[in-house]
This record gives sequence, C-alpha cells and structure tokens, in this order.
Amino acid sequence: MTEIILHEPLDMHLHLRDGDMLHTVAPLSARSFSGALIMPNLVPPITDGEMLRAYRRRILDAAGEECFEPYMTLFFKPEYDFDFLAPLAEEVTAIKLYPAGITTNSEGGVSGFDVETLRPALEAMSELGIPLCIHGETGGFVLDREREFVPIYEELAVAFPELSIVMEHITDAASLEALERHPNLYATITLHHLLITLDDVAGGMLQPHLFCKPIAKRPEDREALLHAALSAHPKVMFGSDSAPHPRHAKEAPGCAAGVFTAPIALPALAELFARHGKLENLQHFISLNAREIYQIDPPAKKVRLVDTPMQVPEKYGEVVPLFAGRKIGWSIADVEC
Ligand code: NCD
Ligand code: ZN
Ligand code: ZN
Repeated sequence: MTEIILHEPLDMHLHLRDGDMLHTVAPLSARSFSGALIMPNLVPPITDGEMLRAYRRRILDAAGEECFEPYMTLFFKPEYDFDFLAPLAEEVTAIKLYPAGITTNSEGGVSGFDVETLRPALEAMSELGIPLCIHGETGGFVLDREREFVPIYEELAVAFPELSIVMEHITDAASLEALERHPNLYATITLHHLLITLDDVAGGMLQPHLFCKPIAKRPEDREALLHAALSAHPKVMFGSDSAPHPRHAKEAPGCAAGVFTAPIALPALAELFARHGKLENLQHFISLNAREIYQIDPPAKKVRLVDTPMQVPEKYGEVVPLFAGRKIGWSIADVEC
C-alpha cells in the first residue's frame, strides 16, 4: 500500500453558495481541507463587511468542523477605496474581480478594464496588502477568452507592482507564460483542468457536468498546466473552483457552468500525482505555495490518503460530482486535527 500524509490542505478557490446548498457542500470541504478561499458570487454578491461576516458565520455553522478556516473574499467594485477597505483588511483575505456577465452571478462585475478607473481601489488594496483575484476572460470567442485576457493581467501587474494578482482557474498555456514575466502574478489551477480537455466536454455526447468557465482547452494546454502543478511551481496553487449547481440546472437546455469536485479533490489529486511519480510535490501544490503567497497560517490538519479505491457517489444532495458512480484509485484513510 502507498500512502501520503498531507498537512493543512488548502482549496484557494471554492464556491460554497448559501442556504440548503451551503449545508450540503460545506461539510464536504471542511472535512478534508484545513481552509479555503471562499468566492463571493452569491446573489446578491458579498460587497461589504457586514455581509462578509454574516456569510462567514453561516459557513462555520454549516461546516460543523472546528479546524476549517473560511478565508473570505469581497466581490470587487471600482468604488472600493482606502477608507472603505482599511477597517476590513484583517477580515478580507482577497478581493475577487469578475468581468461583468462573464460567468455565474457576475452581472455586477467590471465592464472595461480602464486602469485609471480601477486605480483608487487597486492602490488601496496594494497598500493594505490585499491580493486581487481575477476571473480572467474577455467577451471574445470562447476558446480565446483567457488568452485575450493575458495582456490585461500584464497591464495590471505592471501598473500595480506591489499588488499580488491571482489569475484564477487558468486553462491556457499563455497564462503560465505570463506568470514567468511578472513577479506579482500567481495562479490557481483546478483538478478538472488537469484532467480534461474540450474533447471530454463536447467531443462526444455533450457532458454537462464537465461544462465550466473557463471552458477546458486543448491537450497542449492541459499538458502545460499538469507540468506546472506536478513540478510544484511555486507561483501555482490548487483552487478547485468546485462550483455546485443542482442537477436540474446542469442537465438542462442552458446548462449552468461549474464542475463539482470538492469531495473527491484530494483522492483524485493523490491518484494523479502518484501516477506521474510526483507525490512528493503534492504538498506544495495543495498547501505550501498558498501559505507563502497569501501569508496565511491555516488550522493544523493531517489527511492520510492511501491507494485504496474510493467509490464516488452518484449525488451529494442535489449535486452530481465529477466521476459520479465511478472509482478513483485513492481514498482518504483518516483525518486528524
Ligand atoms: C463558477 C460558479 O458556478 O460560481 N462557475 C464556473 O464555471 N467556474 C463561477 C466561476 O468561478 O467562474
Ligand atoms: Zn471564475
Ligand atoms: Zn469559481
């Protein structure tokens, strides 16, 4: 039997939603992760300290787990200035910027990326040491959207050299190249983008449970992402982008975007890293890099994974997970916290 013990696993891009859905999914992340960066794209989005504190309490209540830290984010608004952000700096781990209308619940996001319009907010964040996370896609042709956003990432990285900018859920090799050019650019990579390409989504019968934003790209993009994750690239962190939608919203004309991976993420990553002979690098991808980049100190937690298969349930509540009904080669043996 092969095993690995992961210390303080972190999911640096997680959607927990609210209400019944929050109660279904929060315990699944809290069981095996030590902390997660919680996305603010609720309806309405999290845009002030009061909403953020109340949401954090609802998460802790639903998680039912002592050693799990929800790292909270605000939904970016160009109106945020130093006076607004300064009192919140301790509670806000990052601020998430969505181009308006580009993905689920992003209608209140930013239209146009004019540096001068964004300057007051981004300078305040820079001064307060609050990282900026971005869903980096333009409104262009779907396969080119992330690549077309790279110059915007670069313009922001140069204009605000003290601001840490996280390119969220990258899918395109061009984003990895940009990482190398700017010291203040970082990235998260999901599990599903390490595993699938557009062929898996739409090459045969359409697979709604693999449909997400950004859409999975070409084999060479996946290879580049895999290489970065497996080689423990220090600017790359795991962010599942686990994005639950009820089955009726996925298996529908007008399928909602998002892949639900939280409950299977650690076993599937262990299997992937083991298959490539890189298990020793998983600790960096799953925790050490994020601790360094975000300067966080998550609650102690040890997760022991073994190469004993896990049978993935067909559903968790109303949500169909990635690999529903299939087996993954690895499973969680025990969690200590
Ligand atoms: C996410 C969601 O459902 O909230 N969906 C997705 O396809 N990734 C939003 C996001 O992260 O873009
Ligand atoms: Zn996104
Ligand atoms: Zn997301």
